[in-house]
Amino acid sequence: MKNEYAVLVDNLTKTFSGSEVIKGCNMTIPKGSIYGLLGANGSGKTTIFKLLMGLLTPTLGSAEIFGLDSVLCRSEILKRTGSIIEVPVFYDHLSARENLEIHLSYMGTSGDIESTLELVGLKASNNQPVSKFSLGMRQRLGIARALIHEPELLILDEPINGLDPMGIREMRELFLYLKNERGKTILISSHILNEMEHIADQVAVLVDGKIVEEVALAKVKEQFPTGLEEYFFNIMTGGAKYA
Ligand SMILES: Nc1ncnc2c1ncn2[C@@H]1O[C@H](COP(=O)(O)OP(=O)(O)OP(=O)(O)O)[C@@H](O)[C@H]1O
Ligand SMILES: [Mg+2]
Repeated sequence: MKNEYAVLVDNLTKTFSGSEVIKGCNMTIPKGSIYGLLGANGSGKTTIFKLLMGLLTPTLGSAEIFGLDSVLCRSEILKRTGSIIEVPVFYDHLSARENLEIHLSYMGTSGDIESTLELVGLKASNNQPVSKFSLGMRQRLGIARALIHEPELLILDEPINGLDPMGIREMRELFLYLKNERGKTILISSHILNEMEHIADQVAVLVDGKIVEEVALAKVKEQFPTGLEEYFFNIMTGGAKYA
């Protein structure tokens, strides 16, 4: 059934001035799951996310979010999706709270600023301007902004960049909580397998703009109980899938 899926990507292709950067990608993301898009630098992760959010138009193929076309239904999709694409940009002279207030008013909706800040591990009482924030704090605020309007789907482009090991662990726990307790669907990109190994239900491996593998993580774990690193390294570097 089509509406079991949060995201359906069909033959998605994007060309920039004659050069094909995204090459006939297919992705199927069931509602209520965590999906990891794994790919090296420059493989096309951010471009796929921009296509999903309607920030870019496909050259060929299509992307549907909750059955809605990414280009035709962009504003409806924006209401139901929270995202971080590349490095989140804020009003640097304002506090975290003020940034979230502005975001909510821009979205024309309401949200619980206190509890969202607490959820991502930022103190709601912190009135410092964002210009004083560390990279990890900015990343947390980016996640808070993606979450504040209670979207059904989160699209997070390398969301744990800049976090320390404790922070990474907290974010993993947060993502699992959001999936298990709040029923969210989460699409996360990363170039680090380790990030996905503990949380993803499914992963796609993107090599040079092409998805060379879309697989349930449990299935790979069954076949490679001693470790997935070698397996994925092989795929990401264009090697054979099975040694
Ligand atoms: N607007 C654009 N015009 C031309 N080329 C682009 C444009 N946007 C992206 N590209 C190219 O598309 C390819 C994929 O870029 P993209 O940013 O999607 O990769 P990525 O997987 O997100 O990389 P990273 O891990 O470094 O964030 C790169 O070769 C990039 O140069
Ligand atoms: Mg990127």
